[in-house]
Amino acid sequence: MTVVRTQVGIVGAGPAGLLLSHLLAAAGIESVVIDSRSRDEIENTVRAGIIEDWLIQLLKDSGGSDRVLRDAQPHQGIELRFDGAGHRIDFHALVGRDVWLYPQHEVLRDLIAARMAGGQDLRFGVLAQTAHDVGERAVIETTTAEAEAITIEAEFVVGADGSRSVVREAVTGSQTDGYFKEYPFAWFGILCEAPPSAPELIYSNSPQGFALISQRSQTVQRMYLQCDPDQDPDALTDDEVWEALRARLAPHPLADGPIFQRDVLRFRSFVASALQRGRLALVGDAAHTVPPTGAKGLNLAAADVVILARALEALLLRGDRTEIERYPEVALKRIWKAQQFSYWMTSMLHTVPGTTEFDRLRQLGELYSVIESEAGQRFLAEAYTGWPLH
Ligand code: PHB
Repeated sequence: MTVVRTQVGIVGAGPAGLLLSHLLAAAGIESVVIDSRSRDEIENTVRAGIIEDWLIQLLKDSGGSDRVLRDAQPHQGIELRFDGAGHRIDFHALVGRDVWLYPQHEVLRDLIAARMAGGQDLRFGVLAQTAHDVGERAVIETTTAEAEAITIEAEFVVGADGSRSVVREAVTGSQTDGYFKEYPFAWFGILCEAPPSAPELIYSNSPQGFALISQRSQTVQRMYLQCDPDQDPDALTDDEVWEALRARLAPHPLADGPIFQRDVLRFRSFVASALQRGRLALVGDAAHTVPPTGAKGLNLAAADVVILARALEALLLRGDRTEIERYPEVALKRIWKAQQFSYWMTSMLHTVPGTTEFDRLRQLGELYSVIESEAGQRFLAEAYTGWPLH
């Protein structure tokens, strides 16, 4: 059995784990990052694409990504469509902040390249079996694809290992302990070769269900349709997908083209019952899940990481435990605000199966209350663009 010693052991090379190792390295703290997936799988999995302004600045200023300067596209607002018409929410005018379209796998490519260039110990194909706080240190028991057992011994271990986190069990005492909400719908997502149908994202509420028109580039678009959680992504023909999207966007025109990827995203809200215990802590999807309607998942994970990185600096460089013990309280405040925003956007824009005419008309009343009030628009803009990180 091999033993690897480091200051911080990080399970998960997604955006949270990689950003954490990056910020720790800048503070002079050494870490080992492991992930059960291959580098190729991590860099090529399709995920959401909206990044808050502060995170773009952080990626740029910390040397995590130079490409964001060139390739991230600023979006100064979104369109809410309902009742047959579109209404723009102008973030820039309302709160002076933009968001940026820069797909998550691009962030991952940049951070992996930056970590590799910085000599980071980053191991792919390494599966965490368990994590423990053993008093004077924390350990991660792992196995490699070749069935080699490696123990990582660290001063602190962080679970950045997604919604099926192994570290979560060591923090909360169970895989599932926490606060849950399931939704009776999902998103059917496509990637297609087509020109953009709109300059900004369109979130559309329609009697047929929700649709979102997002983008990837001048030639590739990302779109979503509300569907049943059990929808088989291959059951619809391309024509049926376009017909469903057009019906939900009408009369807004939609440019179509070959669909080359399809997936179904289930909707859940979750917050783990604890985020930190002794020498262990959780960040990102290991700590919480939000439905994608508010574009908060990646941004919230990064906010956890910034808060935790500061706390780990205090602990490991100055022996000060106060911040690490306050990590859950500080992070949870933002997490529950993001839960509320994601839940609100989801419930305001989706059609609940079996809904009554009262529910549908009340939902339209809610949407008009937002777009006809500057305060309503500003509330949405503040949350969507992300609350400042103190
Ligand atoms: C995406 O581009 O994939 C995307 C954008 C906004 C969302 C969710 C997903 O709210």
